[in-house]
Formats: sequence, C-alpha cells, structure tokens
Amino acid sequence: MKETLKDVYLIIKSLQRSAVKNGGRFYWDVANSDNLANLVNRLSNPNNRERQVIRELLQREHPFTLLDAGCGVATELSSYRIGNIKVNYVGLDKSSYMIAKAKKGYPGAKFVRGEVESLPFPDDSFDVVVLRHVLEHLENYKTAVKEALRVSREIIIIDFFHRLLPFGLSWKIWDKDGYWNNWYSKTEFVRFLQSLNISYKVTTTKGNSGQTAEIYILEKRV
Ligand SMILES: C[S@@+](CC[C@H](N)C(=O)[O-])C[C@H]1O[C@@H](n2cnc3c(N)ncnc32)[C@H](O)[C@@H]1O
Repeated sequence: MKETLKDVYLIIKSLQRSAVKNGGRFYWDVANSDNLANLVNRLSNPNNRERQVIRELLQREHPFTLLDAGCGVATELSSYRIGNIKVNYVGLDKSSYMIAKAKKGYPGAKFVRGEVESLPFPDDSFDVVVLRHVLEHLENYKTAVKEALRVSREIIIIDFFHRLLPFGLSWKIWDKDGYWNNWYSKTEFVRFLQSLNISYKVTTTKGNSGQTAEIYILEKRV
C-alpha cells in the first residue's frame, strides 16, 4: 500500500511536469509536434527493466510472429534485437508521426497505420501481441484487449506504465488538449480478464520513471 501511494505521487508529479513541458498541448496523430518529439525521447530506452522482462517472456527456440500494437517509434524492435529474439515483427500505430519515425529507424521492418481498437488483421494472425504503455491512452481498453485476443494465437503481453490502482474505481483522466491518460482499477481489470476465455499471470517491475510498472501475460485457452 505504501508503495502504491508513492506511485500515485510519482504519476501526479510526472503529469504535472509533462503538462508544463508540453504547454498542455498533445495530440497522438499530429505530425511534427515538439510534444511528440519529447515523448519519443522518453520512449527510446531499449534496455529499461520493463523491456528486459518482456524480452525474457519472448525467449523461444523458433521464430514467431509478433504485433507491437501502439508501437510508437518501435523501440521494442531494438530491444528484441538486443535480446536476439527471433521475431517476425509488425508495428502498428495510430499516429502518422510515430509510423514515419519507426519506418525511418527500421527501414526493413513492417509498419501499419491503424487503431488498436479495430486491428486490420484476420483472426489468429500473430503468435504474440504486445500492448506496451497503450491501454492507458484509450477511452475503452476492453475493445483493444478483445482485438488483441482476436488476432493473437498464443499470448498477449500488456505492460502498464504504472501498477493498477488497488481499489474498485478507475481514474480516467482526459488531458484537456486531446488524449486520455488513465489509471485503471486492478479490481475492474481483473474482473474483465476473468470474463474472457483466457488464463493470465502478472508481474511487476521498476519502470523508467521510478514507478512500479505492471505486466500482464494473457494466454489464450484453446
Ligand atoms: C506512450 S506511447 C507507447 C509507445 C510504445 N508502445 C512504447 O512503449 O515505446 C503510446 C502510443 O500509442 C499510440 N496510440 C494511442 N492511441 C492509439 C490507438 N487508439 N491505436 C493505435 N495506437 C495508439 C500513440 O500514437 C503512441 O505511439
């Protein structure tokens, strides 16, 4: 509980800092914004602890397919390369700015512009779907999780920027200039997971802003 209170404090401070830094203006799908450039800087450490945990989860002998849903500038791909992960990668993002940066950074890789709430892929298209620091920014995370389950054959990895709230209420924050920055209730999220035909595990780790991040691994039941 003590740690969760510290997390609350850290996230409020970080929201205040980013609001000041961004002049309160931020849109996911606007190109050439300083705000997006700031965000890109914050996303680009392929070696942070959360990414190391994800790499450990992806260690396999055989090559596999992976959708990085809400890929940003695709730092995940750098991370997988560091870990020698044998992945056939596709990145998807709503923002043309992010997709353009990702394509520039990784010319050989496949990127698609699209929305995580309505993925442009048939059922069972990928072995693994990763949603890293994405659900927090959606109006309704349930649609995105169901879509991830639909297109994945095996597992879905959901990395929440900060550990979910240990009570029944979600804190939905609409940034006044155009994006959600939600902090969800763990009780609600777990109840939602239990309503799906899956099993899941959860692990926590240190995030890059000193907060505790929480990673869910959803396994489809066949
Ligand atoms: C905080 S960034 C995380 C990026 C990346 N997953 C990472 O960990 O570095 C959130 C990303 O989600 C994307 N995004 C937000 N809403 C989205 C949506 N509805 N569909 C697809 N991408 C979305 C944003 O454009 C942004 O690139």
